[in-house]
Amino acid sequence: MSTFASTNTDILAAGKATYDKICAACHAKDLSGGAGFNLKDEEWVHGDSTTALINNISQGFPNAGMPAFKHMLSTEEIKNVAQYIQSQRQGFSKLSYKIYAVDEAPNTVEYQFDPSMAPTKTGVARDNLIDFSIPEAPYYIIEYSGILHNPITQPTYLFAAAVKRHRIELEINGKAVEPAVNRWQRRLWPIAQGKHNVTLRFFRVRHERAATPKLDMYIVNESVTQKLFAVSESGKRFMAQTKVPVLSNTKAKIVRKKIVDLPANSIAVGHPNKLNFAFNTKTCQIVGAWSGDLLNVGPNVERRGRDASIPLGTWLFKYPKVLGISSESQCRLIKYSAAPQPTIVFEQEGQSYSLTSVGSGQNKLHLQYALLGNKDELKHPLNFTLPQGLNFVLSDPKSGTVINEPSLAIGQHEWQIEIDTNTETKQ
Ligand code: HEC
Repeated sequence: MSTFASTNTDILAAGKATYDKICAACHAKDLSGGAGFNLKDEEWVHGDSTTALINNISQGFPNAGMPAFKHMLSTEEIKNVAQYIQSQRQGFSKLSYKIYAVDEAPNTVEYQFDPSMAPTKTGVARDNLIDFSIPEAPYYIIEYSGILHNPITQPTYLFAAAVKRHRIELEINGKAVEPAVNRWQRRLWPIAQGKHNVTLRFFRVRHERAATPKLDMYIVNESVTQKLFAVSESGKRFMAQTKVPVLSNTKAKIVRKKIVDLPANSIAVGHPNKLNFAFNTKTCQIVGAWSGDLLNVGPNVERRGRDASIPLGTWLFKYPKVLGISSESQCRLIKYSAAPQPTIVFEQEGQSYSLTSVGSGQNKLHLQYALLGNKDELKHPLNFTLPQGLNFVLSDPKSGTVINEPSLAIGQHEWQIEIDTNTETKQ
């Protein structure tokens, strides 16, 4: 085999460390590409074998802007980074197809595939994507076979949208797999993490009005709220059209949209220094923070709110971890505005507060809580909930005095929290 993904976690961790330090600047931390190509999808211009990767990293592409790394990294380090890249691979490799024309429309979903049939056409899938528009015959079975790479650590499904009553058979590592969800419009097969030999058969054996079926296929998250990557041609095109990034590069922004992985009713606040957070308007707590660009709201554009928008960066923390005033009681959003600085005003336990944020400096997010209205109303000290694993400095913004307890004492009206993202942790 020319490609392999190491399961040795030490090698992968070492490869990731080198990648994050050196390659991420051009290829993005999540390998999705930037100045350099995408290194996790199914398109490989210079080869995806271990040998090709090692060679390409060693020699670089000096004319295209990638230096030769053989002078900078040891052979060992180059091998590790190549293996890390392979471990992140998404989608099919070695994908090929066979078409079996069916003479008369049997016009039944019960029509069985006969393994002794001879294919009328075979070929290699372009860009390792399933494409249902290839067959020229009116009635046929098209069979795709290849290796499906699924590096996603959370539970996933292979998702086919707009399937109607078409039959699709799936085999994983030689075994037939039934869909966990099988409805008119959607079919979902559980797909474990890792590499699998996959055979997929699509039957077009009934009278149809539409010329060619347009079947979008993706790997999606367990709650079917996020398309993680596409495995079909039309799915890939759909995902490319739905990149609508909302950036806060020049001024702070507040966006009110459903956000993937976060509880409903969360609003996103972004700052020019690329530190962002989400404020939940039902609990008045911060339910996530990330560094990077604000949001891709694109998934909402074509399918009217079915997909949540996606934070474009790395989580500093996310729900169920929260940051905010500790309270079991009802809270109410009063108002928010993005200028001159993002400010959210809310009411909790009969008391109004403002939360003002400043993204200042390269790695710092300042959050400032202030008691509004009658400041003497605070009759007992207020406690704050802080997520574990982040580096904070709490202080009184007026005096600059560092506060050691995550609480607001009687007589104190403002409280500042400075998050230093140099010490970011895993979600
Ligand atoms: C200064 C920017 C830059 C850095 C840093 C960089 N690359 Fe690249 N890389 C590129 C560019 C640009 C290309 C596309 C070359 C071309 O146009 O053919 C590329 C292409 C590649 C390819 C070929 C992709 C394909 O489709 O076949 C691989 C593999 C690769 N880079 C790996 C790495 C690794 C691993 C590192 C870190 C050790 C790294 N790169 C660091 C800019 C960079």
